[in-house]
Amino acid sequence: MENPQIIVNFKTYANATGFNALNLARIVEKVGKDTGVIIGVAVQAVDLSRVVENTNIPVFGQHFDAASDGAYTGHIAPHGLKNHGAHGSLLNHSEKRISIDDIEEAIDVGRREGLFIIACADTAYTGKAISELDPHMIAVEPPELIGGDVSVCTAKPQIVTDAVAMIGGDRLLIGAGIKNREDVKSAVKAGVRGVLVASGITRAYDPESALREMALGILDGLKG
Ligand code: G3P
Repeated sequence: MENPQIIVNFKTYANATGFNALNLARIVEKVGKDTGVIIGVAVQAVDLSRVVENTNIPVFGQHFDAASDGAYTGHIAPHGLKNHGAHGSLLNHSEKRISIDDIEEAIDVGRREGLFIIACADTAYTGKAISELDPHMIAVEPPELIGGDVSVCTAKPQIVTDAVAMIGGDRLLIGAGIKNREDVKSAVKAGVRGVLVASGITRAYDPESALREMALGILDGLKG
């Protein structure tokens, strides 16, 4: 599969949990099919099976640990995610940060189990350092803008251009406060592959049209 262009992170939003997770994932599937944009979802581990079994989209976990076959009570094991049909997982999300040593170990174990790993970073510099550990993609998200109404593209466009220059755009997602077509278009025009988004969809009055607008933003950005 080509690198995803939009990942919708369901976090623990109640309207993106349990059966609601499946409803939202079906919307994601529909928009992806209609627009041709590759859109995946990052769901809670407990919702993986339900979403994987009832949709045909790339489904990611939100976190995993460097836990292999053995005694790792309470950990989320890469082979567990794979067994549930996950395509991959986020790692080191701002809301679930781990040390650089743990990132390295998790990438190693996760890759061995066949997970597609999207490692998150708070700055372009951290993203560059983490990219050396060889995840499949990097998502750069300034934490102070996460969940807010001002996007990284508007408030900190320099982060976007720095990240593209330092990491390379093809395996780069950008996120934090992304809310509309213009945000996505400007990110893609700057050279990023796509966006990692949560509240712009999970808290939207009409998630389908909000996501459709973002998908159109990807296509706008690719046109230049
Ligand atoms: O993982 C996506 C994320 O942290 C950005 O959240 O709500 O600002 O789109 P949000």
